[in-house]
Amino acid sequence: MTTILHGNILHAPAFGQLETVPSGYLILEDGVIEGVCEALPARYEGCPVTDYGESLVMPSFADLHLHAPQYPMLGMGMDLPLLDWLDTYTFRTEARFEDLDYARRVYRALARDLITSGTTRVAMFSSRHTDATLVLMEELENAGVTGYVGKVNMDRNAGLSQETTEESLSETLRWLDACARFRLVRPILTPRFTPACTDDLMAALGKLASDRDLPVQSHLSENTGEIAWVRELHPDCGRYWQSYGKYGLWKDRTLMAHCVHSDPREQEAMAASGVWAVHCAASNVNLCSGTAPVRELLNRGVHVALGSDIAGGDQLAMNKVVVMSIRASKVKQMETGAPFLTVPEAYYLGSTAGQRYFNGGAGFQPGHKLHAMVVDESAFPEPTRPLALPERFERAIYLMEKRDIRAVYSEGVKRV
Ligand code: GUN
Ligand code: FE
Repeated sequence: MTTILHGNILHAPAFGQLETVPSGYLILEDGVIEGVCEALPARYEGCPVTDYGESLVMPSFADLHLHAPQYPMLGMGMDLPLLDWLDTYTFRTEARFEDLDYARRVYRALARDLITSGTTRVAMFSSRHTDATLVLMEELENAGVTGYVGKVNMDRNAGLSQETTEESLSETLRWLDACARFRLVRPILTPRFTPACTDDLMAALGKLASDRDLPVQSHLSENTGEIAWVRELHPDCGRYWQSYGKYGLWKDRTLMAHCVHSDPREQEAMAASGVWAVHCAASNVNLCSGTAPVRELLNRGVHVALGSDIAGGDQLAMNKVVVMSIRASKVKQMETGAPFLTVPEAYYLGSTAGQRYFNGGAGFQPGHKLHAMVVDESAFPEPTRPLALPERFERAIYLMEKRDIRAVYSEGVKRV
């Protein structure tokens, strides 16, 4: 089936590049992009057109790091550094997801919040609970949010959320078997972080990642207290990353959140292995972790994407996360002189970079399922003069709220 969308088309096919097609057409065949054009080719004459008028049609967002069971603590309890924050608030909040009715209510609301905010792909942490994780996957899939979800593994230093090593492994196997029914949401192995996983657990998860060719996500070099702790736990590891590396968890497409304190050697190890850094700017400031060396990571050839990291991060909407990453990069520039992220650069990290992680297209690249959102600017302040499309794009990234998102397409299907 042919679908044609009309509007002001914008996308970031490469880092730092913004392409605009004013009053253009986006042509789809069965949800797959055929092309973007300035005028409708004659062969499509007579086909119905969904006309979004003056609205902006742009690729949707990908959130490559967030904690679903921390959604209830959004906007709360950010007066402590990471390790105390985990012990005081986080583990007890996550423990609540033993209750499946509660999990269903919270995860249904979260999935709706994501899709109506223009986030169509995620890499998400669940809690340690297998059944609540399956509920989460079901709710995401029903809402049209695609990507990866991980049952969290944590068999030490995790308070109320802790499991035994045997339980962690047997529940992971039960969860993986039950995941066969999902099409849009797939499993990712999720050792929480080195301090919460024994060596036996890490070794078993590394073997599972290799035997079943599963992706891995975790946390890396977020906070100085955490890094010192990892050094005590693994005196043989000169750098944090090696505590994952020695168990086979450091591999192509492994997602590592934060990397605030990753030094040049750790950054080189990421580039060499195809490990992705997920930049979580809001969380890094909220928990006083620091400002991540994003420009340095990019210059070393590390793949970087963005994460809301709720609820260390306080904003689920990825345009706010894009803006926060620009702000954090300006603080970094004031500290070190590293050039800040421009709006097209940060938008690329929040959209195309994350979509590419899932083998999506570079912007509206033909041959890929459409992941897009339509932004109506009519609620924004009236400008003093007509604005050019790049200016309208900048304003949309800074100002967009849910009320302004008229439509969202995920995997080629209109979901909002
Ligand atoms: N490190 C281990 N667990 C967490 C978490 O839940 N949030 C953040 N920001 N860092 C972590
Ligand atoms: Fe996190």
